[in-house]
Amino acid sequence: MTQTPQLLFKNRRPGETAFLQEYLKTGGYQGLKKALKTLTPAEVVDAVKASGLRGRGGAGFSTGMKWSFFPADQPGEKYLVCNGDEMEPGTYKDRELLMADPHQLVEGMIIAAYALQAPVGYIFIRYAYEQCSKNLERAIAEAKQAGFLGQDILGSNYSLELHVHRSAGRYILGEETALLNGLEGRRPNPRSKPPFPAQRGLFGKPTTVNNVETLANVSHIITGGPEWYANLARSPKGAGTKLFGLSGHLERTECFELPVGIPLREVIEEYGGGVRGGRRFKACLPGGASTPYLTGAHLDVAMDFDPLAEVKSRLGTACVTVFDETTCMVAATLNLNRFFARESCGWCTPCRDGLPLVNWLLEKIERGEGTLEDIEMLKDQQRNISGRAFCALAEGAMGPVGSLLRLFMDEIEDHVRKGRCPLRS
Ligand code: NAI
Repeated sequence: MTQTPQLLFKNRRPGETAFLQEYLKTGGYQGLKKALKTLTPAEVVDAVKASGLRGRGGAGFSTGMKWSFFPADQPGEKYLVCNGDEMEPGTYKDRELLMADPHQLVEGMIIAAYALQAPVGYIFIRYAYEQCSKNLERAIAEAKQAGFLGQDILGSNYSLELHVHRSAGRYILGEETALLNGLEGRRPNPRSKPPFPAQRGLFGKPTTVNNVETLANVSHIITGGPEWYANLARSPKGAGTKLFGLSGHLERTECFELPVGIPLREVIEEYGGGVRGGRRFKACLPGGASTPYLTGAHLDVAMDFDPLAEVKSRLGTACVTVFDETTCMVAATLNLNRFFARESCGWCTPCRDGLPLVNWLLEKIERGEGTLEDIEMLKDQQRNISGRAFCALAEGAMGPVGSLLRLFMDEIEDHVRKGRCPLRS
């Protein structure tokens, strides 16, 4: 096991949170000083672009590119919003980060807001993350007291206000445009894109929405330099380190900071300690409940955006959920789909009506009452729902369903042939 440089988890200690004194001792706020004193806002954007950092919330969009769409030199109201509404089943990396070291997000946000010349920032945080939001409130107060936040930061003539806003507690609020509606006090239906938030976002003004982990990387890119950051990855096109939150049938279900591009096998065997109880690996979700399954044939894939796309899956949030040989993949997919159907906002028909129909079909097959026609109908639903809804929720729900149909058709047909779940006696 090679040691990965720890950036995001540098100050992580079991059961403890690093606040200002400890953060400063390990180089905290050096990135902010460097950015404000030696770089123009455009140079910060260029550095983040050159680093190759891609969004850590799940979609993997280039962060520097997103910032370059932002009208930083346009005067007036503009916002930076941090999406901390981490609610993807199996995903808990942002919580680990905020429990360990909340100043990293605060510093990253100040640098990002400076780059975008936004005077106001919001941290929109999952309702259940009560301690994380308390940690952030304290970190914000400490940063203000130390002159890193507020008026004329470090004599730079740049000022920023940061606010923490707790989510109302539904999954859809993590979708960036639904989040903006929620922040405005409206019903959180997703908005149509384009216009992207960079053109018309919070209160109709230019807004950039970035994930917690994405923003926490920014100070490291500024202090270490974009080239150093990019070279931390193991895959040729990858950049940086990534938080991998492990769950499911593993010996060790913890969150690790590892290089982007690390092979899946190494994540599972070295860090996860292998499949629990010496059982065989059957499948995994590589990055949250909306990412298509991988099987034993994919264990050598590099955990990076492009290599995972090549095997028809996604890096997503890199929170890996493992299923051992005793798992019924129909039942596992049903469990995931129930969540998505329940969390649909009901705005578009394919999502509102399609996901309950997928539930009904999977339940019927799992009970042993499914027919070959039901399998055809499941395929039809998967095709009809994909790409036909307003936001990524239904599309995400079809990640596991589509890969169930592609990779586990034998197991589905076995349910129909035997008239029962083949994995239950
Ligand atoms: P997306 O691909 O539509 O957009 C990603 C980001 O890039 C957005 O901020 C968007 O505004 C920006 N963007 C994309 N194209 C752009 C353009 N042409 N101009 C300007 N900006 C552009 O994906 P989306 O819907 O934001 O996120 C979906 C992902 O979220 C899924 O892949 C899933 O993995 C992840 N997710 C994560 C959750 C979590 O708890 N972390 C929860 C649910 C989903």
